[in-house]
Amino acid sequence: MTAEQSLPATAGGARRVRHALVDRLFHWFSAGAVVVLLATALLPILGIEFAWVAIHWVTGLILAVLVILHVVRAVFWQNLRSMWISFGDIRDGLAALRSALRMSPGAGRLAGKYSLAQKAIHHAFTVVVLTAIGTGLMMLVKIDTPWWERDPYWVSDDVWAIVYVLHDLTSLCLVTMIIMHVYFAFRPEKLHLLRSMILGWITDGEYDRYYDRSDWHARADRRSADAPTYKHE
Ligand code: HEM
Ligand code: HEM
Repeated sequence: MTAEQSLPATAGGARRVRHALVDRLFHWFSAGAVVVLLATALLPILGIEFAWVAIHWVTGLILAVLVILHVVRAVFWQNLRSMWISFGDIRDGLAALRSALRMSPGAGRLAGKYSLAQKAIHHAFTVVVLTAIGTGLMMLVKIDTPWWERDPYWVSDDVWAIVYVLHDLTSLCLVTMIIMHVYFAFRPEKLHLLRSMILGWITDGEYDRYYDRSDWHARADRRSADAPTYKHE
């Protein structure tokens, strides 16, 4: 047995890949785009005037392209099942809630790559961001762009009213959801997830402690000097 094989799995040296570089770039660029969109939409309402319209719609188009690339990658290169909410997830989520409220002993089953709460916030972001993009694209018809001149009469006033209410509503939802999302990202027990969204990896010990290996098979990070292949493969 070599020195590195005698290291316990929790020693912290061995790592598992949680997010590939391309997925981390997608997360941070789309997060940045959403923050720019919210700032350009809301700051003028708070009285900070600047030429916000062009920055807003160009950033919106960039976000749309990023989301399309993410969906293509999710379907062809990633695991759609890892974000799918199953009946088992709901059962395990209720068991975890009962245990948190001291209504039953034990912490329940370990999660796969994403917990029920993470899947729920992913799907909520999906609905809200896609609604914002869809209504935003419709609103583009109302302004002059390099490709066309504005046409305010494209659809009836009643339809425009619905489009505007939905688009505005998404900004309110996003502010609330982002505050919740960032709060959880900085909770002490979730800091390994924040690290994984920045550097890509979790330690082997964290993999053991928080995840069900039969549900999420994370590959060893080849860059970590002592990635153990002897124990789990
Ligand atoms: C119909 C649309 C969407 C589908 C089918 C989809 C699918 C997925 C899947 C399957 C994963 C898990 C990948 C894995 O870890 O194996 C994922 C992760 C993720 N999704 Fe989505 N998604 C959609 C829309 C969105 C939107 C609108 C956003 C936010 C703007 C978003 C942000 C993320 C982020 C940040 C992750 C975690 C990073 C990663 O591991 O890729 N997704 N998505
Ligand atoms: C500074 C702000 C942000 C921080 C610190 C942050 C942090 C994180 C972290 C730590 C994860 C968990 C990754 C994991 O499970 O391994 C995550 C995932 C994700 N983030 Fe963010 N994020 C931020 C902004 C945003 C914004 C603005 C959006 C979308 C509009 C977003 C959408 C998502 C989605 C959909 C996921 C996947 C679901 C989940 O794991 O919760 N994030 N983010």
